Amino acid sequence: METRLAEHAGFCFGVKRAVESVYELSDKGEKIYTYGPIIHNSEVVDDLKNRGVEVIETFEELMKVSKGKVVIRAHGVPRYVCESLDEKGIVYVDETCPFVKRIHHTVEKMSKEGYQIVIVGSKGHPEVVGIMGWSYGDPIVIGDQEEARNFKADRDTPLCIVAQTTYNSNKFKEIVEIISDKGYNANVVDTICNATKERQESADEIASLADVMLVVGDSSSSNTQKLFEICKQKCPDTHFVHTVEDIDFEIPKAASLVGITAGASTPNKIIEEVQNYVRINF
Ligand code: F3S
Repeated sequence: METRLAEHAGFCFGVKRAVESVYELSDKGEKIYTYGPIIHNSEVVDDLKNRGVEVIETFEELMKVSKGKVVIRAHGVPRYVCESLDEKGIVYVDETCPFVKRIHHTVEKMSKEGYQIVIVGSKGHPEVVGIMGWSYGDPIVIGDQEEARNFKADRDTPLCIVAQTTYNSNKFKEIVEIISDKGYNANVVDTICNATKERQESADEIASLADVMLVVGDSSSSNTQKLFEICKQKCPDTHFVHTVEDIDFEIPKAASLVGITAGASTPNKIIEEVQNYVRINF
């Protein structure tokens, strides 16, 4: 039985950059806070906690910080958060991924020019909440094709459609098509991150060959969930694996290829552990 890791799997550039920044800052002995968990991975968050890094969950708590530094995670935050930190003189390090930052700029500029902002993504996801917060006027969030079919907006206002960076690219294309077919004047900016596309494509590639597929990552991470969806379509025997301890299922003896992929917030260490466990035990 062969175990094969997808060509693109695990930490993306933005997450790596943010996580490394928190480790570096905490190594300097300063009091460090992150506004929300730095990534959707409890192993990393717990490790940072042991180094004294505190997670701030609410805006109210954030406004009470009096010493140390706050790190803004790769997902980014709405504009009012940065403005409030500046006003209060709270020191912060903005580790918003540059690809997400680019969406903030687009949304800010286009909404200022009178475009209705439409964000294709998961309502309530921190990245989407952050993007919404850079729009002037009320942005509209579309989660899936069904919502696109029911979409209604003022026909005299041109649309600017952007996507959550981790959105499934085929689904995004379908949604754009549905909206365009309704006759809206839409300016589409494909803001899906390459790291996501690459990870999704290589997961799809491996899943179509594999007998069993393992998706390594935290189930609360939306990009990991999307990888799971993609793999499940091609390989019905797809499993979510948070850490090596979750491998409590059997891998059929007849399986000749076990494919492995991992979400953007999965550290290499965990991927290697899973890979080695499968190699040794099956
Ligand atoms: Fe950035 Fe893309 Fe990762 S947007 S955070 S590099 S998935």
